[in-house]
Amino acid sequence: MLKVSHICKTFTGGIIRKTHVDAVKDVSFTICNGETFGIVGNSGCGKSTIANMLLSLIKPDSGTIEIDGTIQIIFQHPETSLDPAKKIGYSLEEPMIIHKMYDKAGRKKRVKELLDLVDLGEELLDRYPHQISGGEAQRIMIARALSLDPKILILDEPTSMLDVSVQAQVMTLLKELQEKLGLSYLFISHDLDVVRWFCDEIAVMEEGKFVETGRTEDVIGHPKAEFTKKLVESFILE
Ligand SMILES: Nc1ncnc2c1ncn2[C@@H]1O[C@H](COP(=O)(O)OP(=O)(O)OP(=O)(O)O)[C@@H](O)[C@H]1O
Ligand SMILES: [Mg+2]
Repeated sequence: MLKVSHICKTFTGGIIRKTHVDAVKDVSFTICNGETFGIVGNSGCGKSTIANMLLSLIKPDSGTIEIDGTIQIIFQHPETSLDPAKKIGYSLEEPMIIHKMYDKAGRKKRVKELLDLVDLGEELLDRYPHQISGGEAQRIMIARALSLDPKILILDEPTSMLDVSVQAQVMTLLKELQEKLGLSYLFISHDLDVVRWFCDEIAVMEEGKFVETGRTEDVIGHPKAEFTKKLVESFILE
C-alpha cells in the first residue's frame, strides 16, 4: 500500500555561512491497508518533511517511495487551508473541478454525500470560512480531502489547534471514516495519549531518525530506546 525505503533529506542554504540540516536520515516504514501508522517526535525532528516527500512536494535525496492509490493531507491549520474569499460549498467542489470529476449536478450530489460523511449540514455551504468554527473547518478539510477518493490520508497534527472536546470528536470521526472507507492513515503527532488510542503501529523519531518502530502497545509498554523511555515517562508524569 505505502512503502518507504531508506529516504534521506538534507536542506542546505546560505551563501556566506553555509547551513546544513539533516532533516530525515535513512527512514523506512510500511503502512498496510486500513491501518494507522503514527510518527511521534519533538518539534523540528523531521515529521512534516517526511509528509512532504510522500506528497512529492519535496524530493528525497535518496531512497524510494512506493504508493498504491491517491494520497491526501489534512493540515494542522484548517482556517489557513480554506480560501477566505470562497464559500464553503465552492471549497468542497474545487478539487473535483480541478480534476474534472463529474458534471455540475454530479459534483453537487457528491458535496452532499461528503457533508454527510463528516456529519455537517448543508447550511454551511453558503458560508465563508470566518463564519464557521475551527472544528467545522477541520471537518470541511477532511471532506475536501475525501472528495478525490484517496486510499491514504496524512494527518499532520490534525487537531492540535482545536479545543480538547472538539479534538476528541474529530479523532472519533476519523476512526469511523477509516472503518467505513477502508482508509490508511499516516498520523503525525506529539501527543502520546492520542497516538496510543489511534495508531496500530508507531515510529518514534528523534533528530531525523526513527529510533524505534513497532506495534503501538509494545513501543509504549516496553520502550527500548532511551529517547522513547523519556517520552513515555514525561507523559506518565503529566
Ligand atoms: N524547506 C526547508 N528549508 C530548510 N530547512 C527546512 C525546510 N523544511 C524544514 N526544514 C528544517 O528541517 C527540520 C525538520 O523540519 P520539519 O518541518 O520536518 O519538522 P517537524 O517534525 O514537522 O516539526 P513540528 O512538530 O514543529 O511541525 C527543521 O530543522 C526545519 O527547520
Ligand atoms: Mg511539522
